[in-house]
Amino acid sequence: MSSGSNSAENLEPSNQNIGHKIQQQEGNRHVKPMREMISMSAPDIDDLDIEAVVEVLRSGRLSLGPNIEAFEEAINQYIGVRHAVAVSSGTAALHLIVKALGLGPGDEILVPSFTFAASVNAILYEGATPVFVDIEDETFNLDLPDLRRKITPHTKAIMAVDVFGHPVEWDAIEELADQYQLRVIDDSCEAFGAEYKGRKVGQFGDASAFAFYPNKQMTTGEGGIVATNNSEIARLSRSLANQGRSEMGTWLEHERLGYNYRLDEMSAALGLSQLGRVETFLAKRERVAEMYAECLKGSEAVQIPRSKPHVRRSWFVYVVTLREDIERDTVARTMEQSGIPVRCYFSPIHLQPYIRERFGFKGGELPTTESIAQRTLALPFHNNLTEKQVDRVVESLLGAVTKMV
Ligand SMILES: Cc1ncc(COP(=O)(O)O)c(C=O)c1O
Repeated sequence: MSSGSNSAENLEPSNQNIGHKIQQQEGNRHVKPMREMISMSAPDIDDLDIEAVVEVLRSGRLSLGPNIEAFEEAINQYIGVRHAVAVSSGTAALHLIVKALGLGPGDEILVPSFTFAASVNAILYEGATPVFVDIEDETFNLDLPDLRRKITPHTKAIMAVDVFGHPVEWDAIEELADQYQLRVIDDSCEAFGAEYKGRKVGQFGDASAFAFYPNKQMTTGEGGIVATNNSEIARLSRSLANQGRSEMGTWLEHERLGYNYRLDEMSAALGLSQLGRVETFLAKRERVAEMYAECLKGSEAVQIPRSKPHVRRSWFVYVVTLREDIERDTVARTMEQSGIPVRCYFSPIHLQPYIRERFGFKGGELPTTESIAQRTLALPFHNNLTEKQVDRVVESLLGAVTKMV
C-alpha cells in the first residue's frame, strides 16, 4: 500500500494488466498458474495513436509544429471555449493561470486541501497565500458555507477543483465570485469531459487547467491545457509558456520573464488521436464504475462514489469511502497482500510536511477533509478493466472489510 499517497505517481499506470498467466518455475518443469495482474491505472493506446506519433518522428518537426495547433483547435471545439494553450503539464497550466491573473504576495486564494499538491503549489510559486477550505462529504468538493466563511478583504481568487472528475457547484461559486469580485481558476485536471448542468467544465471561471498524464481520461504522456474565453489570459499563458516571447516577436526577443512549458509535437499528435476516441473512453470508464457500483451496492461498510443528478462525472478514479469503524490502512494492506493494488487517495495538503512547516497546521483544522482522507481508498480503475477483474477487486475488498467487523 502507498500511504499518504496524494501524488500522481502513486496512481502510476502500467501495462501490467496484460500479465503473464503462467510462470515457469525455476529448477523444475512444473508450471505454476499465476493470477492475472490488475494494474491501478492504464492508458488506452491503439495502433492509430502509435502511427500518429511515429508520423511526427518521421516528419522531423518535433516541436512548435502543426500538431500543437490542431490539438489546441480540437480541444477548443470539444470543450466549447475560445482559447486552448497546450502546455507541458497540468501543473504548468495552473501556474500559468495564477501568473496570468496577476496573483501574488498578499493575495489569498481559497483552495481545497483535499486535492493534489499541484493545485496549492501553483499558488505558492507566485508567492500568494493558499487558504484551505473544507469539503462536503457527498462529492468531496469545496464546502460552500466554509468557502464563504473564509473570504477576507485579502481574498482575490478561488481555486475550485473538480475532484475525482465531479464538477464543483458552479452556479454557487460563480455567484460568490461575482458578489466578492473574485477571480476563479478551475483546476479541472481530473475532470476532462465532465459537465455541469449540460455545460462542459472548462467553460467556467476565468480559466481552467486540464492534465493528460497517463492515468487521466485521455493522455499525451505528460501534458496539459489552459482553456479560457479570456484572450488576455490566453495571450499571456502562451507567451509565458514559451520563454516570454510575444506572438509577433523574433525567437530571441523576450517580452517578459518566461518558462519553457511547451508541449512537444509527439505529445500533441498523441493527444489529437486520443481526443478522437475520448467519448468512447468516458463510456468505458462509466461502465467500469457501474460494474463496481453493482457489486458494492449492498455493502453497509463501503460507500460508493456519489454524483449529483445535474452533473456528468467524468470518471477519473474509483474511490470508495469506508465506514468510520473500519481501519482503512489495514484493509489496504490486506488487499495489496492479495495482489490488488490500492491507493489511499488524497492525503490532505494542509498536513503535508512542507505546508505544516510553513503554516503551522497541526491537524483538526478541516474536520471533513481529515475524516474523509482517512477513509478513502482508490481501487484499480481504467478503461479496460474486465468484469472478472472488478469481481476480484471487490471480493478482496469485502473480504478485508469483513475480517474487521
Ligand atoms: C487535481 C489535480 N491538479 C493538478 C494536477 C497536476 O497535473 P500534472 O500531473 O499533469 O502536472 C493533477 C494531476 O494528477 C491533479 O489531479
